[in-house]
Order: sequence, then C-alpha cells, then structure tokens
Amino acid sequence: MKKLLVLSLLVLSISIAESQKSENLALTPPMGWNSWNTFGCDINEELIKGIADAMVDNGLRDAGYEYLVLDDGWMAMERDENGRLYGDPVKFPSGMKALGDYIHSKGLKFGIYNCAGFKTCAGYPGSRGYEYIDAQTYADWGVDFLKYDWCNTEKLKAEGAYMTMRDALYATGRPIVFSICEWGDSDPWKWGKEIGHLWRVSGDIINCWDCEVGHGSWSSWGIWKIINMRKDIRKYAGPGHWNDLDMMEVGNDLTDAQNRSHFAMWSILASPLIMGNDIREASAETNKTLSNKGVIAVNQDKLGIQGFRFSNEDNIETWIKPLANDDWAIVFVNLNEEDFELKWDWLKHDMGDDINNKSIDFKNDICEIKDLFNNKNLGDTSKPLKAKIGVNDALMIRITKK
Ligand code: GLA
Repeated sequence: MKKLLVLSLLVLSISIAESQKSENLALTPPMGWNSWNTFGCDINEELIKGIADAMVDNGLRDAGYEYLVLDDGWMAMERDENGRLYGDPVKFPSGMKALGDYIHSKGLKFGIYNCAGFKTCAGYPGSRGYEYIDAQTYADWGVDFLKYDWCNTEKLKAEGAYMTMRDALYATGRPIVFSICEWGDSDPWKWGKEIGHLWRVSGDIINCWDCEVGHGSWSSWGIWKIINMRKDIRKYAGPGHWNDLDMMEVGNDLTDAQNRSHFAMWSILASPLIMGNDIREASAETNKTLSNKGVIAVNQDKLGIQGFRFSNEDNIETWIKPLANDDWAIVFVNLNEEDFELKWDWLKHDMGDDINNKSIDFKNDICEIKDLFNNKNLGDTSKPLKAKIGVNDALMIRITKK
C-alpha cells in the first residue's frame, strides 16, 4: 500500500513537472525575422544564410533582433523511415542541424515552423501524433523557437493540442520559445499564458494600411484592421506571454510614413517584433525605422505593459503605454489624407492606466519630451506640444518626469 502511494506520488510529481512551459523565456516581446511574408514556401539554405548575414551586417542583431524563423515550406514532403522530419534535401542540402549551427555562429537563434494538424497549411507533414518525436528532432537541431500553426486540425481542441506540444518541448530539456498560431479563434489569450510565450490574435497580416482581402473561407488583414480587431485583451499580455499581432510588413511596399506608424504601433502594443521583409534588399529608410533604438526600447520595456488607445480626435489616433520609472510612451498617428498640425495641450490630457494603477497629472508633473524617430528633444509638457505629422505618419514620443 505504502509502495503504491509512493509510486503514485512519483508519477504525479513527474507529470506536474512536465506540464509546464519553459519559464524565463521571452520576458520581453521576442524580436526576429520570419520568412513567410516575403518568401512563402520559396525558401532555401542560401537565402536563410543571406538573411542571417544581413541581420548582422545591417545592425539588426545588435538592435535586438534575435530569432531567425523558417516558416512553412522547409521540410521534405514525407517523414523518414523512423518517422522523423527532415529538411527538403534540395532546398536545404546541408540539413537543418548545419543551418542551425550557421545561425548560431552569427549570434542569432534558430526558429522553425510546424502545425498541430496532420499537415501544415501548405501541405507538408504536420505534427499531429508525432509531437514528441518532432520536439526531440528540433531540440537535436538546436532549435530555439517553434511557431505552431493550426491548419488541418478538425476535431482538435486548441488548448489541448497546444498543451501536448508544450509538454513535448519541455520534455526535451531544451528551452524553446513556443509561438501559438491559432489566429485568435478560441481566445488563446485566456489560456495561452500557461502554454506558450506568444499567441497570434488574428488571421494573417497583409501589406496594406487598412484593407481586408478575402480568400473564400478566410481573410488577410491590413495593419489597422489587426490593430482594431481585438478589444480588452491587453490585460493578458506581460513578461513571458504576449499578444502577437503577426509578423510585420514594414518594408513591404508601404510608404515610409506607414512603415513608421506600423512599427510604432507594434512597439507600443508590446507585440513581438518579427520582421517580414527581405532585409538583404531593404532601403536605408526601412532599415533605419526597424533599428530605431528608442522605439525598440518602448517595446522591450521591462514592465511589459501593452499600450492602449487614449483618444481619436480629428482622425489622429493617440496610443499610450506606461513604462518603467514612470515614463510613458505616446504615439500620434495621422489617419488623414493630408498633413496635420498637432497642438496637444497636456493639461487637458491627464493620462491613466487603471489596470496597472498608473497615472500622470500634468499640472504637477512636468515631463521632458523626446521624439523617438528623430532622436530629438521637443521641450517639456509645461507648454502644448506642436508638431506637424505627415499623411499616415507617426510622431512617437517618450516623456520622462523632470
Ligand atoms: C498560416 C499562418 C501564417 C503562415 C502560413 C504558412 O496561414 O497564419 O503565418 O505560417 O500558415 O502556411
């Protein structure tokens, strides 16, 4: 009897120990690059190595971008005779381990993609029924990040399916960031915290300012459609568990102004900052936007509070985010079709965040103002802030108590 009790306690403690995600990962929103938005399944060894080189040479790695993630299309169409996945031998002749080694040799981390269903969205072998084998394969290759998609999952329940993969990853003993990609269909923000480190909140992004592009049963969403899609989920985000607004379209045929606004919004919303452009070919302006230290610091702020809409006056969207040391970040985005002369009277705009118990009263607290995109001091909050904001452009500032 006693033996039985000891045995069941042992089994219980093992299963509790295994039912968790790797902690102390993604304490700030993950930053990196993903192949999907620009390349779809058309990826190969040379391209990925070129991207790794560009991340280093363009200063993006040093700006904080860390994970280089291969999306759908990396694997062979079948598993090997042991049921293990392997890279498409034509696209990746040196194999995935060698690719991971190259990525690591550049001081970057290696991310990979699969799906909870029988097949991935593009029809490659999915992980259903192979979760533990696949997790171990990734760990053997030195994978640091897994994006786990939701195609071909008929009859599966999302929470359980993601839990199975979480446990499989944990069982490998390798810390792997787990990126839940079920498009927000079953409110992953409500259960994702214990399972993954980030979860998509929408269907796929597309590179337009505010459009919806239908594909029959599903749609792709422009930048402002995604921003406006979810209400009241900011409370679910925090260190180690983030609302993921999808890979960015910065640099993908948006105007420079729209690129800045898109980047500013992903930053203030504490979304993962995963680039989706061809960084080998990016313009100097795109590179400058993506590597802006001040904007990145807002996103990476250690409190990990997701920002929120403060107001929309005159078609100027104003979003705010409390930061460490009682600083605040503010983004003003001009949605008008013409330039806008902003005149922002601080005394009429005291700010507060009830969820996080933060507030600022501009009568008593005078703050210095820093323009983050232009790296310029704009005076302080004792006088109204005046600035011209171009069409679809963003003025992003950080205010610090004097
Ligand atoms: C889904 C995901 C995308 C991408 C593709 C790959 O649509 O949401 O981000 O991973 O699958 O097929």
